[in-house]
Amino acid sequence: MTTVNTEKLSSARFAEATDAFVEEFTASVNFDQRMAQQDIQGSLAHAAMLNHIGILTAQELADIQRGLAQISGEIERGEFVWSIKQEDVHMNIEARLTDLIGIAGKKLHTGRSRNDQVATDIRLYLRSEITTILAQLRRLQVALLDVAEREAETIMPGFTHLQVAQPVTFGHHLMAWFEMLCRDEQRLQDCCKRINIMPLGAAALAGTSYPIDRFMTAELLGFERPSYNSLDSVSDRDFAIEFAAAGSLIMVHLSRFSEELVLWASAQFDFIDIPDAFCTGSSIMPQKKNPDVPELVRGKAGRVTGHLMSLLMLMKSQPLAYNKDNQEDKEPLFDTADTLINCLRAFADMMPHIKAKPENMYNAAKRGFATATDLADYLVRKGMPFRDAHEVVGQAVRLGVDSKRDLSELSLAELQSFSAQISEDVFDILKLEGSVAARSHIGGTAPETVKAAIQRARGELGK
Ligand code: ARG
Repeated sequence: MTTVNTEKLSSARFAEATDAFVEEFTASVNFDQRMAQQDIQGSLAHAAMLNHIGILTAQELADIQRGLAQISGEIERGEFVWSIKQEDVHMNIEARLTDLIGIAGKKLHTGRSRNDQVATDIRLYLRSEITTILAQLRRLQVALLDVAEREAETIMPGFTHLQVAQPVTFGHHLMAWFEMLCRDEQRLQDCCKRINIMPLGAAALAGTSYPIDRFMTAELLGFERPSYNSLDSVSDRDFAIEFAAAGSLIMVHLSRFSEELVLWASAQFDFIDIPDAFCTGSSIMPQKKNPDVPELVRGKAGRVTGHLMSLLMLMKSQPLAYNKDNQEDKEPLFDTADTLINCLRAFADMMPHIKAKPENMYNAAKRGFATATDLADYLVRKGMPFRDAHEVVGQAVRLGVDSKRDLSELSLAELQSFSAQISEDVFDILKLEGSVAARSHIGGTAPETVKAAIQRARGELGK
């Protein structure tokens, strides 16, 4: 019987021991142990398949199953001893299995390589992380629907260039956020389709000479199907890049929500109150209440988009097939998943407690001549060409600015001095309520339309 140096599985070929620093430098176990349960899951499926095709006896399979169950427990309880001598999660678990069950443990790696093993593990790992991310994203969507429903009639200024543009309802604004999250959800689901393809069986790069049944392993692991090219299977990490891209967009969206919350909570806007539980004070300025949660989420958008760049650069110019470069995919991926889960959770927790200040929102809309477009539209309905109406309204706004009054506060006589076509009914449309109510087409800001949008969304979400 040949002996295997259990200190270092690949060492027979080497005359010298690995340099101590190189051993540390090349090891990944300190971070890839996060995929331990996925690694065990993959090994269980692989072993069952090897038994099915007659490579492992029933007894050997049973030993492997027992050994892996014990290892899984040791890892769960924090008792497993990880060693960088075994380089990565895969070799640590295999070495421990052989310690526990002997010869059958050494047979587990038949017909596979760490290259297809790691590609499989990452896919299983991402699949499960995406489930958690989607659950948090759904919580935030539902929270937005609830607040939007509460605030469907609340009038606030809508902005372009961060200048007051036209009145909108706060519910409509929140539903804009909701729409962004719906697309984020679809992107994650879509990228999951490509994640859910099984590389196992590609072995190191060229496949294996054993009569493996890849459809069986794919089914056991819940993959859609086995991959179609062994070289591609062990090398490309495009699925990971897609995940980071979808994650980056989620973070970009959250950073936009954050920025608005931070602005609105400032004394200058004073549109909302963020509850104390989501803010902190200042160590020096006793009056401060800082919107830490949205600020931190805004900041974390940077690290996730950074991870996307890391992964893109990691993949760029890599020749087929596997290269050690790919070991660098783990940390950005893990951190992307963690950050997404935490940020979505913080937002979902906070959102129901955001308190609108309707009076301040209303007054801000009034101060900004937000119904100027409505007055122009009114004149167009009375027969004036839009460009002329634009000019007339400009004059009316100037009078409002000079006399510090909103358009609705000008007298009928004053308004008529700009156009004889203006009559008493103008005040219906100059009111903010009239302006938002008029925009009742699909996608518009009218309270009734917003309520209908919320109902449609609830129907689609089943919430
Ligand atoms: N730790 C490696 C990784 O994360 C596993 C695959 C290593 N394969 C190899 N032949 N060195 O990519």
